[in-house]
Formats: sequence, C-alpha cells, structure tokens
Amino acid sequence: MAYNQRDYFFKKAKAENYAARSIFKLEEMDQRFKLIRPGMKILDLGAAPGSWAQYSSKQVGKTGRVLGIDLQPIKITLPNALFIMADMRQLDLARVMEKHGIAPPFDIVMSDMAPKTTGIKLTDQMRSVELCELALETAEKFLKHNGHFICKLFHSEEFERFRALMKPKFKIIHILRPESTRKESKEIFLVGMNYIAPKSAAAPAAPAASAPAASATPVSGKSDPA
Ligand SMILES: C[S@@+](CC[C@H](N)C(=O)[O-])C[C@H]1O[C@@H](n2cnc3c(N)ncnc32)[C@H](O)[C@@H]1O
Repeated sequence: MAYNQRDYFFKKAKAENYAARSIFKLEEMDQRFKLIRPGMKILDLGAAPGSWAQYSSKQVGKTGRVLGIDLQPIKITLPNALFIMADMRQLDLARVMEKHGIAPPFDIVMSDMAPKTTGIKLTDQMRSVELCELALETAEKFLKHNGHFICKLFHSEEFERFRALMKPKFKIIHILRPESTRKESKEIFLVGMNYIAPKSAAAPAAPAASAPAASATPVSGKSDPA
C-alpha cells in the first residue's frame, strides 16, 4: 500500500464519512487484537477531529460510552459520546467525569495524542513520549483491571524506556505500525492488553449521586469546556 497511500486512506475515510484517516489505524488494531466490544466505556485522548470516537461509538453501541478529550474542538455529534476541549496536561479529569456523571473505570484508555511538530526531531520525540507518559498515568488512574491501553509514540531512543514502563502493568504488549500509517511517519503504536491493576488500588470514586447520566449528555455540534 505504499503507492499513493495518502490519497487512498484519505479518500476512503471521506467516502465512509469518517473525520480522519486515523480511523483505519484503530480499526486495524481492533481487528487484530479484538479490543472494543459493545457496552464498553472508552476514554479517547487526543480525540479531534473525531474518527477514533466515531469508530468506537459504533463498536460500543447504545449501551457504551465514549469520552473524548482534545485541545481542539470536536465538531462531530455522536449519541453516546461526550467531548471536552482541554489540555490533558492541565485537566482534572476526575472532576470532569464527576461533573458529567461518567463513572470510571474505563474498559479502554486510548491515546492518539501528538504534539504540534516543531521540525526539531529531538524536541518532537521528547514531547511525544511526555504525552505517552501522561496517557499511561491517566490509564493507571482510570483503567479497569484487565482493560486495554493504546498509545501512539513518535519512535525514538525513548521507545524502549516507555515500553519498559508499560511492561509490568499489562499482561501482553503489542507493538505495531498500522498499514495506514504514512510511509514517512515515525509513529508507532503500543497496545497494552489486560491491565494489571494494583491490588491495593482503591476503587475510583463514583460520581455524585445527583450528577446526570452520561447517556443524557449528547454532544451537539461543539465541544464542552472542561
Ligand atoms: C492525530 S490527532 C488525533 C486524531 C484522532 N484520533 C482522530 O481519529 O480523529 C492528535 C490530537 O492530539 C491532540 N493533542 C495533542 N496534545 C494534547 C494535549 N496536551 N491535550 C489534549 N489533546 C492533545 C491534538 O490537538 C490533536 O487533535
């Protein structure tokens, strides 16, 4: 698929009404590792413009839920998704969940977050691994035992260090470069399956009883502020 790859996946996404060609990366990971099932609750970090959320929303169905976070507004509307416009580096996610009546833990925490590239390779790689560490910390707070974690990383010397960080926390770790990744891209995905939650971890706090059900919080055209 090297020849005219960009056009192929771009056009395919457009034809299938997906917000971005990134959909095919998640679809490939899901088809290979059987990650997303009906009824699941998914935390989507770096969700804009929304193709992973579109795919996940369809897979989890009416009884599932998707919470997407991004610096950018997300313009699509999905019946079982809530989008929050915020910087993950500063966001109090527990507070957001409580405010919107979304109770952790999540079945899947996935991060397609990517830094704005500067063109300086080392800076971009360092920022990418920082976002991965943040995603992993978030998973450790909100992922359920045996849940799955997906993370995109710009490949660098930091790769082995990050994989070593993930290793004791998951039963299986897959590394892959999806077919739809652009040839020139240095991105690589790590998929941690079957999270091993620390035995001593207290169950995450349930949202306030008075909070509205997440299913009653559809997104209408624009992203909510945090
Ligand atoms: C490749 S795009 C994600 C595409 C998305 N998965 C989709 O399918 O439409 C990467 C996203 O990461 C977001 N991002 C980068 N740093 C972030 C941060 N600190 N907090 C939240 N989002 C961030 C960017 O705004 C960008 O929209």
